[in-house]
Amino acid sequence: MTLTSANPTRQTADALVVAVASSPSGPRVVGADWLPADTAAQVTGLAGVLGVTGAVDEVRRVPAGTGLAAKVVVLTGVGALDAGDSPEPETLRRAAGAALRELGGARTVALALPAEDVPQVAAVAEGALLGAYSYTRYRTGEQTGAPAEDITVLSPRSRDKAAQAALARAEVLAAAVHGVRDLVNAAPNDLFPAAFADAAKAAVKDAGTRNLKITVLDEKALAAGGYGGILGVGQGSARPPRLVKVSYTPSRPAAKVALVGKGITFDSGGISIKPAAGMDAMKSDMAGAAAVLHTVVAAARLELPVAVTGWLCLAENMPSGTAQRPSDVLTIRGGKTVEVLNTDAEGRLVMADGLVAAVEEKPDVVIDIATLTGAQLVALGPRVSAVMGTDDVRTEVVDAAEAAGEAFWPMPLPADLRAGLKSKVADLANIGDRFGGMLTAGIFLQEFVGTTPWAHLDIAGPAFNEKAAFGYTPAGGTGVGVRTLLALIEARAVR
Ligand code: BES
Ligand code: MN
Ligand code: ZN
Repeated sequence: MTLTSANPTRQTADALVVAVASSPSGPRVVGADWLPADTAAQVTGLAGVLGVTGAVDEVRRVPAGTGLAAKVVVLTGVGALDAGDSPEPETLRRAAGAALRELGGARTVALALPAEDVPQVAAVAEGALLGAYSYTRYRTGEQTGAPAEDITVLSPRSRDKAAQAALARAEVLAAAVHGVRDLVNAAPNDLFPAAFADAAKAAVKDAGTRNLKITVLDEKALAAGGYGGILGVGQGSARPPRLVKVSYTPSRPAAKVALVGKGITFDSGGISIKPAAGMDAMKSDMAGAAAVLHTVVAAARLELPVAVTGWLCLAENMPSGTAQRPSDVLTIRGGKTVEVLNTDAEGRLVMADGLVAAVEEKPDVVIDIATLTGAQLVALGPRVSAVMGTDDVRTEVVDAAEAAGEAFWPMPLPADLRAGLKSKVADLANIGDRFGGMLTAGIFLQEFVGTTPWAHLDIAGPAFNEKAAFGYTPAGGTGVGVRTLLALIEARAVR
């Protein structure tokens, strides 16, 4: 990706992207005073017959005509906008992302979107890179619609060091998000716990920085370490579980952050098996662990002055003759016992081990991220993630998400729900009352964090887009969480 203040009319790209806002008097080109008058008139004139409205997520290609070196002009909607106003960063991200997503097949793309200040440059760069993604691992034969290889952001700020840094950051960020999407989209016959651990090793190696270390605990080491939750969930699978620790340690860290991710490479439900319809989406049940891995790698690549340790709790939840049964009792690391009343509530079991391991190292804060409950989807729908935990940290996550352009909504941890988790035989049961299922899962995890400031992120819906692509978000794995976690780490670096 390149940043330039060159004249947009002279861009010889395959496609030149321009913003269009909707207004009561019809669509209006935004931030493109440089457009030759006849081109502007042509575009605005065509808008009516083409049905262009300037709505969000609307992308339309029109012939560039005379006066432009680019082959086509791409109109990308930014929605309603008062005259004189410029779009919000997240609107720009989505508009740039939708354009790049729709432009599969174009090799070179130049973006002439509003990019007057550094936040706008960052938004355009991030959106474009996030949208330029396609997953083709399992496609054979001729490949069409590959994402653009050469993206240029046009901005008067091209000489500004901060704008250049924003571009470099966007590239690291997008690589991390793409890395998560690739892992989530991978078929679970290819991505099982040991394969995930290998992928983590490869990602660490690719980052090429010395202060990034990875340790993999196999099933023997897990038994020796008392990780009963991960082992219990993983015991039904022919492919044994793993706990991966990835740590980034800069020389003089301003803070120490621990991240714990749910990495169920496939969640069949186990003996409490799920219905067949929709079970395929459960290949995405490792999205939290993937987000943790790539956040740590991104923090290292950006050389942030914060120590970050990621814990990936990897297991495959399968029914079999060796699988755990409803009524089995597990001992989580640290000694607490859990009666497994439903083997499909497996996420909290592996996360309990991960949280205990994470807090043993006395981080300043621990954040866990998991596709934990169907109740998250019931409460907030498929695009809004939930955050629970210690009040301060919960607010910190909401603020980081806001800055990053991700939707995380604060949710409570009502103490009365703890009663539902009482077990007749063990310290606690792994399921509680039916209502407020997402909060009950949070209350369960809370038992394992002690007094460490903590937040729990439930990304069950947002991690995997089962519907059509929108903005910079493709169908399938979305990579949700990485941008929020990275923003939080960056904020910790300066506070
Ligand atoms: N992985 C699922 C949660 C999930 C559901 C993620 C839908 C993404 C989309 C989790 O392991 C699960 O099965 N949770 C159960 C818990 C219940 C048994 C208490 C659920 O939500 O139904
Ligand atoms: Mn489950
Ligand atoms: Zn699960």
